[in-house]
Amino acid sequence: MKDNQQEIFPIVDETGAVVGRATRGECHSGTKLLHPVVHLHVFNAQGDVYLQKRPEWKDIQPGKWDTAVGGHIDYGETPEEALRREVCEELGITDFAPEFVGKYVFESQRERELVYVHRTTYDGEIRPSQDELDGGRFWTIQEIREAIGRGVLTPNFESEYKRFFLDKIEQYRLLTEQIRALIAGETDRIAIMANVCAAIHETMGFWWTGFYRVVNNELVLGPFQGPVACMHIGYGKGVCGTAWKEQRSVVVPDVEEFPGHIACSSLSRSEIVVPVFSKAGEVLAVLDIDSKELNTFDATDRQYLEDICQMLTNQQ
Ligand code: SME
Repeated sequence: MKDNQQEIFPIVDETGAVVGRATRGECHSGTKLLHPVVHLHVFNAQGDVYLQKRPEWKDIQPGKWDTAVGGHIDYGETPEEALRREVCEELGITDFAPEFVGKYVFESQRERELVYVHRTTYDGEIRPSQDELDGGRFWTIQEIREAIGRGVLTPNFESEYKRFFLDKIEQYRLLTEQIRALIAGETDRIAIMANVCAAIHETMGFWWTGFYRVVNNELVLGPFQGPVACMHIGYGKGVCGTAWKEQRSVVVPDVEEFPGHIACSSLSRSEIVVPVFSKAGEVLAVLDIDSKELNTFDATDRQYLEDICQMLTNQQ
């Protein structure tokens, strides 16, 4: 079996409005034409998640375990119609109640998809298509955690599952394990900071994540992810300078309520700053994270981000 490269897909904008059409072949050849797909995550009553195994003949991610149901929306079809059609074709399920959980843009080297994400709880019989799939089964949360990052699951499933279905503590646990593996054996402090802030930013979906380093008695912008930011911050100035001076983490639920807050971006509404100490206990840098929402950061964020900064101390 093989995918039909001449099949016609709608081309959409990021809101989902149809703006054109193109073949499957065109959409999957690096053109990055945004085309819509539907996903359904199937949970059983215990919270295990059903994954399908992609057959070896698939043009994308052959042999990997993937979201229970995923498929392209045909030209002229609504997301709901496409979902019902795909769920019936792939798993033989017709009696399910889908809940829409969100949509987002997924991008790989080959393609850009607008993904309509749904979930359902289903304990009935599942009959995976013998033509389209290489079988499927329920996975416990523990099994998923152990498989993440090992090339067993599709990257698409991994990022979507973390984003929509793991609670904050689970997300931080995975993040902490990822960072531990990522920096093991590395000694260059800037390389470590660069990958640590990229990992935090990608996993947690924050607005701005970065380090300011103490250089010549001021904070100087270091590796970061997000929009451009202020490059120099004085001792005791803003949230970052306060965390440095007071040698402690500072959580700001509403930046407008923090006297002296430095607004690098008018979109930042809440913030957390965690100091990075040397082994001798001096502040070497601060980790600064901004959110576009109020009250984003709490004791959980503080705890895990302090643990991550402690890993940087231990690595010196
Ligand atoms: N808001 C920070 C300045 C850095 S930016 O948010 C990236 C502060 O008040 O220290």
